[in-house]
Amino acid sequence: MVATTMDQLVSLCKRRGFIFQNADIYGGMQGVYDYGPLGVELKNNLKAAWWRSMVYERDDVEGLDAAILTNRKVLKYSGHEDTFSDPMTDCRKCKGRFRADHIKDGKCPNCGSTDLTEPRPFNLMFKTQVGPVESDENLAYLRPETAQAIFTQFKNVVDSTSRKLPFGIAQIGKSFRNEITPRNFIFRVREFEQAELEFFVNPGEDEKWHEHWKEARVQWWEEQGLPREHINIYKTPDADLAHYAKACYDIEYQFPHGMEELEGIANRRDYDLGNHTKNQEEFQLEAHCHENKDSTTKLAIMDDNNKWIIPFVVEPSMGVDRGVLAVLTEAYTEEDLGEGNSRIVLKLKKHLAPIKVAVIPLKKNNEQIMAKCHEIKNNLLKLGIGRVALENTGNIGKAYRRHDEVGTPLCVTVDFETIEQQPETVTIRDRDTMEQHRVAVADLPRYLKEYFL
Ligand code: GAP
Repeated sequence: MVATTMDQLVSLCKRRGFIFQNADIYGGMQGVYDYGPLGVELKNNLKAAWWRSMVYERDDVEGLDAAILTNRKVLKYSGHEDTFSDPMTDCRKCKGRFRADHIKDGKCPNCGSTDLTEPRPFNLMFKTQVGPVESDENLAYLRPETAQAIFTQFKNVVDSTSRKLPFGIAQIGKSFRNEITPRNFIFRVREFEQAELEFFVNPGEDEKWHEHWKEARVQWWEEQGLPREHINIYKTPDADLAHYAKACYDIEYQFPHGMEELEGIANRRDYDLGNHTKNQEEFQLEAHCHENKDSTTKLAIMDDNNKWIIPFVVEPSMGVDRGVLAVLTEAYTEEDLGEGNSRIVLKLKKHLAPIKVAVIPLKKNNEQIMAKCHEIKNNLLKLGIGRVALENTGNIGKAYRRHDEVGTPLCVTVDFETIEQQPETVTIRDRDTMEQHRVAVADLPRYLKEYFL
C-alpha cells in the first residue's frame, strides 16, 4: 500500500519548486501546471531514461520530434474528428459539467442533484486557426497524441534510414486534450507530455510484440523505482478499446487516489498507416475505416518477399506527467528520527534525482572555503553526471534537510579541514542512510563516477 497522500505531494511540489499551478497569480487555470526549477530536472531525467532505453539501447528504433500544430486532415483520417470524445453530462441545478462515466448513482458529483442531462459526446481536441483568416479551411488542432506525426512521417523515416521490419519510431512531446474534468493534480490535465513508441511489425507478429512490450515496459517502470506490487496490468475489455485498437494493456500504478493508468500499450494493427495511405485498394487492410482521397503517399514497406505491405503497429505510450507523479509518490518518505525529530526524504532513484550532488560550505561566505567549493563544483560538472548545485546558506543542518526533501543523493561538505590539511578531504553524506565519511578531493571524480554512471 502506498501511504503517500496527494496533499503531501502537492505541498512538497510547491514548497520545493517542483510543480506550480499555471497562472497562479491570476487564480490558476484548471488542468494546467508548470514545472518549477526542480520539476523540470526530474521530468527531463525521466524522459532521458525513457529515450535511452527506447532509442540508444536498441538498434531498431529511430527518434522524431514533430510539430504540435496538426493539419486537420491528419486527425480526420486518424478518426479523431469523429470519435475522440468523452460522454458529457450537465447538471441542470448547479450547471456543473461532468464526464458521464464519472457519475455515480445518477447524482451530480458537485451538488448531489439527480436532474442531469442525457450524456452526449464532447470532442476533446483543442481547435485553433492557422494564418490570419478565421475559416474552416484554416482550422488546425493541437495534437491529442504524439503518435499521428509518427504515422504521417513513416515514409520519410523509412526512406532516410533504410529501416526494415521490425523497427520503431520514438517521440516525446506535448499533447493536448480538453478534458471535461481534469483532476488529481498532474494525473489528468489538459496539457501534458507523452513518450510514445510506434513499433512497426509484420502482420501476424503483432501479438508476440504486444506481449514483449508489456513485459519490457513493466521492467522499465521497476527500474524507475516503482515496485512490482504497486503495478497492475489491466487488459482493456473489447467494448472499451480506443477506436484504433485491437487489444490494449494498461500499466496501472497505485497512485495516491487509486490504482490508475500510467501507460497504455496498444495493438493498433494497420489502422493508422492504412487509413492515412494512398491507394488503399492495393492492400487488404484489417482496420479500414476511411476512404482516403487526400493522401499523396503510400505508407507501406517491402517485406522479406519483396511485397509491399502495410505493417501493424504496437504502441507503448507513457504519460510523462503521470510518470513524474508515480515516481514522486513512491519516493516520498516521512522518517521518524526519534526524540521528536523527523525528516521528509525523497528516495528517488539516483538517475532521476534533480540535483545529483550538493556542494555545501560549512561556513557561509568564507572566501577560501567558497573558492574550494567552486573548484570542486566545476570539476564535478565535467563528469557529466547531471546538475551539481552549490549551496551558500551557511546552515549545514538546513541544507541537509532541504536536499533530503528534494532527493539529492549526495552532499559534499567543504570545511576548514578541507582547506587546512593535506591531502584535501571533504565529507560525503548519503541521503538515505545519512551516513558520512571523508573522501580525498582528488578521489572525488572517481568516487562519483562509480556512484552515478
Ligand atoms: N497514442 C495513444 C494514446 O494517446 P492514451 O491511453 O489516450 O493513448 C496514453 O494516452 C498515455 O498518455 C496514458 O496512459 C496517460 O499516461 C497519458 N495521458 C492521457 N491523457 C492524459 C491526461 N489528460 N493527462 C495526463 N496524462 C494523460
